[in-house]
Amino acid sequence: MSLLWVQFNRLFIGCFSLILLGLVTACKNDRIQNYNPTPHHLSFPSYFPDMEIPSHNKLTVEGIRLGRKLYYDVKLHPSQSLSCSFCHNQQNSFSSPSSNCMPHVNLGFSTNFLWNGHVQGELEDIMLFEVEDFFGTDVSVLQADEEYPAMFKEAFGTSKITTKLAARALAQFFRTLNSYRSRYDGMLQGTEFFTPQEWDGYDIFFSERGDCFHCHGGALMTDNLFHNNGLDQFPDDGRYEETNNPGDLGKFKTPTLRNIELTGPYMHDARYQTLEEVIEFYSSGLQWSETIDPLMKKVQSGGAGLTAQEKENLLLFLKTLTDSSFINNPDLSDPN
Ligand code: HEC
Ligand code: HEC
Repeated sequence: MSLLWVQFNRLFIGCFSLILLGLVTACKNDRIQNYNPTPHHLSFPSYFPDMEIPSHNKLTVEGIRLGRKLYYDVKLHPSQSLSCSFCHNQQNSFSSPSSNCMPHVNLGFSTNFLWNGHVQGELEDIMLFEVEDFFGTDVSVLQADEEYPAMFKEAFGTSKITTKLAARALAQFFRTLNSYRSRYDGMLQGTEFFTPQEWDGYDIFFSERGDCFHCHGGALMTDNLFHNNGLDQFPDDGRYEETNNPGDLGKFKTPTLRNIELTGPYMHDARYQTLEEVIEFYSSGLQWSETIDPLMKKVQSGGAGLTAQEKENLLLFLKTLTDSSFINNPDLSDPN
C-alpha cells in the first residue's frame, strides 16, 4: 500500500517538476526572444575619472541606438519641427554657433546641469527635464510611429512608451558623447608633440601665470562646479536664481574647454564671439564683485596681464583641445 503510494507520489512530483521546468524554459525563451539587450562598454584613457553608470539604466546597444534616434528626431517636439540636434550640432561639439547653447561633451561625468544648475542629479534627471519640461514631448506621437514601439521593446523590454523611458534612452546616448582624442590627449599619451608656443600656452594655463586650471583643469577641463569668474561688476543672476542665496550671485557652471574652439559664442550670455575676446577678458577685463571667486587673484590689476605673445600661445594651447574624431564620429551623427 504505502510503497504504491510513494511510487505514485514520485511519479506525481516527477511530472510536476517536468511541467514546471517546461514552463520556466518557455518563459525564459520568451524573455530571450523579446528582451535581451546587448551590453555596451565604454573605455577611456587612464587619466579620466570613472563614469558612474546607474544600475537602473545600464548601457546597451539598443538603448543607445534609441537615444540617438530620439536626439535627432523632430517627433520628440510637439511642433514636429524641432529636435535636440537643431541647437546642439555635432560640428560644434553639440552646441550652437548662434546662441549660448551648452555643448554635449563628457556630460556623463557631471551631476550639475544648465548654466545655473537648475537640474542636479543623474543624466536621467536632466533628460527627463528636457523631454517633459523643455520639449513637452507627446509620447502618443512616438507610440503611433512605425519604428519606435519595437525599438523601446528592444531597449527596455516594453513597447509602452513613456517620457521616463525616452529620458533613459537619451541618457544612454549622452554617455557615449565623449571626447578624449584631441592633440592634447595625444600629447599626454606620447603620440603627439607640442610646439614651443603650445608648451608655453600649456604652462600659462596650468600655472599661476594664467591660473586657468583651478576651474578648467583635470581630464574633463572643467570642475563642473559653479564660480563667478569676474564678468560683471553687478552680477544679478547665475546660481542665485536657484538658491536665492546672495553668495551665489554671478556664479555659473564652469564650461568644459574641450573643443572650445568650436563652441562659440562664449559665456552664459554669449557675450564674446571669439576666443581672443575671452583671453583678453581674463588678461585685462576682470570685474570685482562680492562673489568673485577667490581664485581670480589678479582682479585688482584687471587680470593675468598677459603679453601679446602669451595671449597667442594660450590660444594655441586651447586649440589643441579640439577633437575632430569626436565631431566626425559617424556613431554620433544623425541616423535618420
Ligand atoms: C532651441 C535650442 C535648443 C534645443 C532645441 C535644445 N537645447 Fe539643450 N540647451 C540649449 C541652451 C540654450 C542651453 C543652455 C540653457 C541654460 O542653461 O539656461 C542648453 C543646455 C542643455 C543641457 C545642459 C548641458 C550642461 O552642460 O549642463 C543639456 C543636457 C541639454 N541642453 C540637452 C538637450 C536635449 C536632450 C534636447 C532635446 C530634447 C535639447 N537640449 C534641445 C538649447 C537647446
Ligand atoms: C574661478 C574659476 C575659473 C577660472 C580660474 C577660470 N575660469 Fe574660465 N570660466 C569659468 C566660468 C564659471 C565660466 C562661465 C562663466 C559665465 O558664463 O558666466 C568660464 C568661461 C570660460 C570660457 C568660455 C566657455 C564657454 O563655453 O562659453 C573660456 C574659453 C574660459 N573660461 C577660459 C578660461 C581661461 C583661458 C582661464 C585662465 C586664463 C580661465 N578660464 C580661468 C571659471 C573659471
